[in-house]
Amino acid sequence: MAFIIDGKKVSAQIREQIAADTQKLLAETGVCPGLAVVIVGEDPASKVYVKNKKKGCGQVGFYSEEYALPEQTSQEELLALLDRLNADSKIHGILVQLPLPRHLDEKTVIERILPAKDVDAFHASNVGKIMIGDYDFLPCTPAGVMELLRSEKISAQGKECVVVGRSNIVGKPMAMLLLHENGTVTIAHSKTKNLAEVTRRADILVSAVGRAKFITADMVKPGAVVIDVGMNRDEQGKLCGDVDFALVEPVASYLTPVPGGVGPMTISMLLKNTLTSAQKAAKKG
Ligand code: GUN
Repeated sequence: MAFIIDGKKVSAQIREQIAADTQKLLAETGVCPGLAVVIVGEDPASKVYVKNKKKGCGQVGFYSEEYALPEQTSQEELLALLDRLNADSKIHGILVQLPLPRHLDEKTVIERILPAKDVDAFHASNVGKIMIGDYDFLPCTPAGVMELLRSEKISAQGKECVVVGRSNIVGKPMAMLLLHENGTVTIAHSKTKNLAEVTRRADILVSAVGRAKFITADMVKPGAVVIDVGMNRDEQGKLCGDVDFALVEPVASYLTPVPGGVGPMTISMLLKNTLTSAQKAAKKG
C-alpha cells in the first residue's frame, strides 16, 4: 500500500509562502512580481496549462499578462513581442507555452527570452548553469518533483534513481537534479533494452514518457518511490498519468497521483522563479 503524496497540499503551502514574500517585496521595494504568458494557437492542453498559470499568479498577488496569439502568428511577430517583454520593467518572467505550431522555431524563440526572465529555465545559458550546479532558476517540473520528495523527507542520496524519458523539459534536467542530490541516476528511454529490468532497480522511479498506464507493477521494485510526471488521457478521455495507478499502488511505498501530484507543483515552481527574478530586479534597482 503506497502513501499517496498530495501535490495540491504541498503546493498550497509553497504558494502561501510565495504570497507572503510577494507582499513583503512590494511593501519594501514597490516591486510586484510580473509574469507574461504567451500561447500561440489552439492546443487544448496548452490552453488549460496557461489558464492554471494565470490563476496561480492571481493566488499569490502577482501582476500577469497573457498573450493568446493566433496560430498563423509569424516568427518575426513572436520575436518582436518577446523583445518588448524583455524590455518591460513590469515583467520579471516570460513563458512561451510549448509546443509551438510547426512553422515556428522553438529554439530561436526560447533563445530570444532574456536568461534573467527565463522562468522556465529553458534557455541554453540557464540549462548550462544547471549542469554546473550554479543556477538562478530550476526547471519547474523537475524542481517540483524534488520539492515533493523533500516534503516526505525522501532523500536521493545513495539511491538508485531511474528517470524514464529524456526530454529537455523534464527527463534530462530531472536526472541532473537527482544527481545534484547524490543519487545514482539512470536515464531510460524508448531505445532502452529490457526497460522493466532497468526500472525495477529503482529506489526512486520518475516517469516522464507521456503514455497512459505505461508503468505497470512488474516494472516497479517493491517499496520504491514512484513519481508520475505524465499527463495523458485514458481510453475514456479521463486525465491519467504514465503509471497504472491501480496496479502500482500496492507495490510502491510512495506514489504521486494524476491529477493532484506533480502538476500543481510545476506551477508553484514557476511562481517561485518569477518571485526570485523580481527580487533580483528589485535589488538592482
Ligand atoms: N509545455 C509543457 N510543459 C511546459 C512547461 O513547463 N513550460 C512551457 N513553457 N511549456 C510547457
